[in-house]
Amino acid sequence: MTLTTIERHIIDEERRHGPTSGTLTNLLHDIAVAAKVISREVRRAGLNDIIGATGDVNVQGEVVQKLDIYANDLLSGYLSHSGRVCAIGSEEDPEPLLVEPSRAGKYVVNMDPLDGSGNIAVNASIGTIFSILPKKSTGNATAADCMQAGRHQVAAGYVMYGSSTVLVYSTGLGVYGFTLDPTVGEFVLSHTKIRYPQRCKFYSVNEGNSAYWDTNTRRYVDWCKQIDPDTHRPYGHRYIGAMVADFHRNMLEGGVFLYPKDNKDAGMSHGKLRLLFEANPMAYLADQAGGAATTGTERILEIEPTDLHQRVPVVVGNTAEVERYERFSRES
Ligand code: AHG
Ligand code: MN
Ligand code: MN
Repeated sequence: MTLTTIERHIIDEERRHGPTSGTLTNLLHDIAVAAKVISREVRRAGLNDIIGATGDVNVQGEVVQKLDIYANDLLSGYLSHSGRVCAIGSEEDPEPLLVEPSRAGKYVVNMDPLDGSGNIAVNASIGTIFSILPKKSTGNATAADCMQAGRHQVAAGYVMYGSSTVLVYSTGLGVYGFTLDPTVGEFVLSHTKIRYPQRCKFYSVNEGNSAYWDTNTRRYVDWCKQIDPDTHRPYGHRYIGAMVADFHRNMLEGGVFLYPKDNKDAGMSHGKLRLLFEANPMAYLADQAGGAATTGTERILEIEPTDLHQRVPVVVGNTAEVERYERFSRES
């Protein structure tokens, strides 16, 4: 039996990239360590609620925090003290954290510390998403270092706190998944070179919003539901409400995830998901797994960011479906 821990795998991957300083390896390892701590907190989130029910302090005297704030503070604190990172952009923070120059490293991390946080209260899957970019400015890091197009990412991944905790990442040499073995506290290689299956089986979208969609999206989703045995339609519908979990299932089983723009309110006219914290890292992984990601008119990885918290429509999954959605978008 071969046992590959994430640490060993990251080191092996680094060798495949040729001579490097090892900084990216160590940064990925830092993220894996933080993920284990967040996973522990997620696993006892329900208990914390009970213990902390009388107020904000649990029996150990610790302040009970909301999980997304906990995950944000943990990742920001741990990574900013690592010496490997110069800037951290987070969905939870209005401005990026710029690491003090004497402790700054050469990488930028953009993250969604807790994705699908609405699922916490109902014990459904949640995740953490990360995107790693090289520092682009020559002097001290600025917010512009976080605001790079997705094609510049050197690594990306997510952690899914589901029925087990799984860390999925890529450094541009394919997508690998690791399952946390809680008995030994290690992420162990469980998914090698993940590729989208040829066949699309599922579509994932919040269909309750369909009255607010544009005609293109409505026509595409109607197409997914039509009966056509040759193309294995109708596709099954799955929607968990955490992008990480919906994306994970679609990548493993074949499917397409959509969060299109809608006209529910002014804030949704560009979609809901954030380019830098959600769309870009997932688009990078999709690309590495043989899939694709689009807004309908533009490939996600090509978008030049204009704002740290910019939102974009996202359609990600099997390449054939993404291309089909683009065709529907062009047709009307
Ligand atoms: P977050 O918890 O980080 O704000 O992300 C939630 C996102 C995404 O994970 C999910 O796919 C989507 O919001 C669900 O939104 P709806 O409830 O509008 O479907
Ligand atoms: Mn999110
Ligand atoms: Mn979040």
